[in-house]
Amino acid sequence: MKEQLESIKRQAMEALEAAGSPAVLEELRVKLLGKKGELTNVLKQMGKLTAQERPVMGQLANSVRAEIEAKLEQRKVDLHAAALEEKLLKETVDVTIPGKAVVMGKQHPMNQVLQQIKDVFVGMGYQVVDGPEVELADYNFTRLNIEEGHPSRDRSDTFYFTDDDSLLLRTQTSPVQIRVMENAKPPICIIAPGRVYRKDEADATHSPMFHQIEGLVVDEHITMGDLKGALTTLMKQLYGPDAVMRFRPHHFPFTEPSCEMDMQCHKCKGTGEVDGQVCSTCHGEGWIELLGAGMVHPKVLENCGIDPEKYSGFAFGMGLERMAMRSTRINDLRLIFDNDIRFLNQF
Ligand code: DAH
Repeated sequence: MKEQLESIKRQAMEALEAAGSPAVLEELRVKLLGKKGELTNVLKQMGKLTAQERPVMGQLANSVRAEIEAKLEQRKVDLHAAALEEKLLKETVDVTIPGKAVVMGKQHPMNQVLQQIKDVFVGMGYQVVDGPEVELADYNFTRLNIEEGHPSRDRSDTFYFTDDDSLLLRTQTSPVQIRVMENAKPPICIIAPGRVYRKDEADATHSPMFHQIEGLVVDEHITMGDLKGALTTLMKQLYGPDAVMRFRPHHFPFTEPSCEMDMQCHKCKGTGEVDGQVCSTCHGEGWIELLGAGMVHPKVLENCGIDPEKYSGFAFGMGLERMAMRSTRINDLRLIFDNDIRFLNQF
């Protein structure tokens, strides 16, 4: 039996050494160590041995098995390394082949304009804050002094989630004013950019989703002069020192007094005419409406627990698409959302 074991070992070692592939190795493993393998066959004869011989042979058989297993493992490693070596040799890289050009992305024009606006306000000490797009009607309307029955609350204008009209997609960024004033004591000095939603069909100047930037400053002794100063600074930073603005009385429920800010048309320089024709950019108006603003209504301050006798504030809200269209000279709003690379690459 001893001879048998030694012969198995010798032949196994030779065969394993000669094996040229993982498949052959596997065949050998089954043949040598498997249930019906050579080693198992020999072990089946252990019963015929004497009690003294049995442990000696047992030990020998175990060591033969261990050696075969070790050899198998080692050959596996060898073959794997050889295969890798061969693959690497075959796959040498031709470093002279011209590479594939990497297509560089860049910021969307809307983001570029947003970034510029943020930079100006952050430079003036404003904080940039965020608010939810799914908003309570209470914040979007009621606490902004927009009473029940106001046309902007109408189901034809607003996306409501609930039958009782209490939850909606915010129609403006103004509710962020309420959220900020509820949680912070003056001095408050923030801008809040974000998406807003209205039930509009998409056309060249409308989209059911668009972006606004809200601004809010509340402190002691804040005046309309501060509002004009902040917005004039923004426009001159964005459009250069020659940009001309005008502030026009208007009405918003959450500001008193309220105004709209227009910018002189860059195309016709305020004349409303280009080469004897009505200016196509401002439709002959000479001015382009840019944003709404005003002094925060005392009721709105009160609704947020801020004493209107002690504090005053100004607020403004501007449409970001309109600003982007103004600075990039895009004439159709839909282009901004189409994500056509050929269009976006122009900015
Ligand atoms: N929320 C207004 C709108 O969507 C814009 C606006 C006007 C915001 C005046 C303000 C403001 O903060 O003071 O039309």
